[in-house]
Amino acid sequence: MYKLTLISGDGIGPEISRAARTVLQLVHDKFDVKFQITDVEAGDSIVKKGGKALPDHSFQAIKNSDVCMKAPVGESAADVIVYLRRTFDLYANIRPAKNYPNIQALKDNIDLVIVRENTEDVYAGLEYDLENASIAIRLTTKKASIRIAEYAFKLAEFRNKKKSVTAVHKANLLRKTDGLFSASCREVSKKYAGIKFSEMYVDACSMNLIRNPEDFDVIVTTNLFGDILSDEAAQVVGSLGIAPAANIGDNFAIFEPVHGSAPDIAGKGVANPLSMILSARMMLDWLAMKNNDSKCANVSQKIEDAVTRVLAKGIKTPDIGGSNKTDDVTNAVIEELKSST
Ligand code: NAI
Ligand code: MG
Repeated sequence: MYKLTLISGDGIGPEISRAARTVLQLVHDKFDVKFQITDVEAGDSIVKKGGKALPDHSFQAIKNSDVCMKAPVGESAADVIVYLRRTFDLYANIRPAKNYPNIQALKDNIDLVIVRENTEDVYAGLEYDLENASIAIRLTTKKASIRIAEYAFKLAEFRNKKKSVTAVHKANLLRKTDGLFSASCREVSKKYAGIKFSEMYVDACSMNLIRNPEDFDVIVTTNLFGDILSDEAAQVVGSLGIAPAANIGDNFAIFEPVHGSAPDIAGKGVANPLSMILSARMMLDWLAMKNNDSKCANVSQKIEDAVTRVLAKGIKTPDIGGSNKTDDVTNAVIEELKSST
């Protein structure tokens, strides 16, 4: 039995959390991967009621759980997810982007993963007001740069696809901070003779993600650049609505979509639930690896197959050119899972 904490979030958060909950219930009932789900409050809705974005009891519940899933929160994201990433040292933010059937993408054959350093950079919260000016300190340490590079190379080996790692930075301008990041990636690359290593400036990378996204395998980058490039990569394969993510540390992990709370479509029942369902899939992969649990690995593949079949049938939300509702897509995934053996 895995103790799972679930943050339902703001905006479309509750709508897509419901989808993940329904899928996990079926996983529990049919595939014998047991979850005990505890709802944890966090985000703008708590702030509006006069509370802290991440109340202490929520923090404690997350700390006492085996794993956490989080739907997007709104303006309090820094106090919720950025705080959790740093406090639990969830240093690797993994953001895959790939083609699915029936989703219009800029190109075919895209299958890349952005590995984003998740604890430093300008997200370390070191911002100060001066007189008529403000500064943010951009923190880069060798320790964090080496470990994220290691993660990226190991992932490229494990994926066994193009076997390439592209380090993305701006070391020509940010000579100290990205200079250190770049040197750390180069240092790690020497240990992985079987993996092709290259470097690319972030501005060129943002262009190449549109020009030839199919050429990338694993991209490793710093926190802010990874945040920006992962939204771009999601749209290159069709939509933020299909973009899952993992925040991984040595002992704990939080799974959440790449996107935010999408206030423009909240409450309309049209949010794409696949970002959250595919985040649940990433959670099962992580549980499989951490606990050597083959049942989790098996279910993860079943979810991927179910999503692929649902899309192949043309059941999709408006963000990817369909006219189905959130619940239609969730129900279709459930039906596929029910009929899978
Ligand atoms: P956003 O990611 O919420 O939305 C960008 C666009 O993508 C919108 O047009 C939205 O409708 C669309 N979109 C996003 N998810 C979708 C889905 N599942 N299905 C269909 N369409 C989808 O970005 P925005 O508007 O900049 O941010 C909104 C709020 O979210 C802000 O308050 C921001 O602080 C917060 N945020 C929270 C994050 C988190 O909790 N990790 C991450 C990013 C933003
Ligand atoms: Mg972002």
